[in-house]
Amino acid sequence: MAKLQILEYPDPRLRTVATPVTEVTDDTRELIKDMFETMYAAPGIGLAATQVNVHQRILVADVSEDQSAPVVLINPEITESEGDAWSDEGCLSVPDVYEKVARAQQIRVRGLGITGEPMDMEAEGLLAVCIQHEMDHLEGKLFVDYLSELKRQRIRKKIEKARKITGSQPEPVPVSRDRSDQ
Ligand code: NI
Repeated sequence: MAKLQILEYPDPRLRTVATPVTEVTDDTRELIKDMFETMYAAPGIGLAATQVNVHQRILVADVSEDQSAPVVLINPEITESEGDAWSDEGCLSVPDVYEKVARAQQIRVRGLGITGEPMDMEAEGLLAVCIQHEMDHLEGKLFVDYLSELKRQRIRKKIEKARKITGSQPEPVPVSRDRSDQ
């Protein structure tokens, strides 16, 4: 297993639209293991392959407190969505920024699991928000795209400043269920 490097906003590679996985192979599973390791270490509750510069339609998530509820979705598609959820979202690719974003409260999503088996699952609340956030990454979209241009400029400046001070990436903040990095 290996920890992968996470691309950070405004890296243009985060804008790549991921392509569908045609066959779930050992390489796919190896990548998924590495994605979990990277997400848990960050720490975060979700990670899309796009964020580690692999442009395939794969996401992982785990919204539990103790790494007990891993979710893998390959080629995810939302088939139903309902309700409104507004929550503070964060993103491992946009360090230390949390903003309210509107999402569906409940979704039904289908795709493939880690062995290539068809999956059809329902999710609500934090997991539903997380899956929607990660699916955006696969489209080259970031949660800051929902904010005003002024806010985005402020965020870019903040990230650039933090990078100058630390000389590298900012320290991750402790994981919290109301402000979750994805
Ligand atoms: Ni994210």
